Amino acid sequence: MKAYARVFQGTAFTARSPEEIDILKDHLFCVNDDGVIAETIAPDSPEYEAVRSEYAVLDRYRQLAPGQYLLPGFVDLHVHAPQWAQSGTALDVPLYDWLHTHTFPLESKFADLNFAAEVYEDLVASLLANGTTTALYFATIHKESSLLLAEICAKKGQRGLVGKVVMDDPAQNPAYYRDADAAAALTDTEAFIVAVKELAKRAKQGVYPVVTPRFIPSCTDEALKGLGALAAKHDTHVQSHCSESDWAHGYVQDRLGKRDAVALSDFGLLGDKSVMAHCNFLDENDAALFARTGTAIGHCPISNAYFANSVIPIARWMDKGVEIGLGSDVSGGYSPSLYDNARQAVISSRMLEDGVNPALPADARGMQASRITIDEAFYLATAGGGEALSLPIGRLAAGYAWDAQIVDIALSGARLPVFSEDEPLHEIFQKIMYLVRPENIREVWVQGEQVHKRA
Ligand code: GUN
Ligand code: FE
Repeated sequence: MKAYARVFQGTAFTARSPEEIDILKDHLFCVNDDGVIAETIAPDSPEYEAVRSEYAVLDRYRQLAPGQYLLPGFVDLHVHAPQWAQSGTALDVPLYDWLHTHTFPLESKFADLNFAAEVYEDLVASLLANGTTTALYFATIHKESSLLLAEICAKKGQRGLVGKVVMDDPAQNPAYYRDADAAAALTDTEAFIVAVKELAKRAKQGVYPVVTPRFIPSCTDEALKGLGALAAKHDTHVQSHCSESDWAHGYVQDRLGKRDAVALSDFGLLGDKSVMAHCNFLDENDAALFARTGTAIGHCPISNAYFANSVIPIARWMDKGVEIGLGSDVSGGYSPSLYDNARQAVISSRMLEDGVNPALPADARGMQASRITIDEAFYLATAGGGEALSLPIGRLAAGYAWDAQIVDIALSGARLPVFSEDEPLHEIFQKIMYLVRPENIREVWVQGEQVHKRA
């Protein structure tokens, strides 16, 4: 028999496709030394009893208790790590003002490595406690404290994709918080990429450097072009914001005479490893460009409700073949939890479809076929995020990383309302998605290692 590093026995939920959840009842999950799932074994398989009886006597075997379920760890496609320090505040200020009155002053403080360490340690721990096993981070313009964030991810065992933010345009950014010039921004970015790749050699779960122009309005053409070239040279992920607000989208059109998505593409910033946050105001051609280049949308439903007063037609873009995952957008979104964001994604999609006054003319009545289900929101938070990043994560299936959360719905003081022994598992799954709180998330695993445990 093969030697597995660990074997888990329990019932799991994992997305097969955007619409279909696989319910793996009382399966065995066999994990190799490298933290990758070797195989999942169903109870009716001929090997089941043999593997079970061999491993059940070992301490590498783990049978989930009654009331416990396995879900894949969540993939957060958009987190501004420094903004954790202002989460829940300033949500009534428009984007442009918010950047200048709240966000840039806060982010400028991350030149101080002690302050950065305090915030970043707490954020990574909080995300893990909320079931987020992979996060795509914007740090700040500071190379050293951005690297510190990658080091904290490595140390705590989270799969972190981290970007040193570039914002070099003196006309758009305050003197106290911007790159010295395009050349300095590119030199720092390349040094950052090399340093994170070095760090990655010591992180089993992987940490990754990400080329990160904040958004077109904050960068010069020279920086944007140079960043596209660096991403190609070092084969890195790329992240930015695209068509988030009327203001941002309109600014790009005025300065460059083209749509935001087209401009990003022309700078070499779209591709299979690119994730663009928000994308509220894509048109059909932009969406086709995303699909053709393999660029993913980081959908941030809570943030979009506040900053853009907007709902993106996720169902429509998924039908067009655009990859989409979920993002918290801390702190444009107030919650670090992708459970909260999955819930909002469903609510917002319902509002888009039919939440408008039916007494108004038809063209003022929302967008048909917009709604998504909680199953689809779960897909976005897991497998959709993995596909967006082109990494084998987000599913509990052979060949995927063992990134998992163990959720306990029978916990005293945090019980979910399941009262019948034979409640259908799909109903239990829906209750988990709508009602779980961090108290219910008992353990979190990344790449075969336990990274969070609630006593
Ligand atoms: N656009 C440019 N910077 C930001 C940011 O920090 N948050 C959000 N939501 N949008 C942005
Ligand atoms: Fe953002």
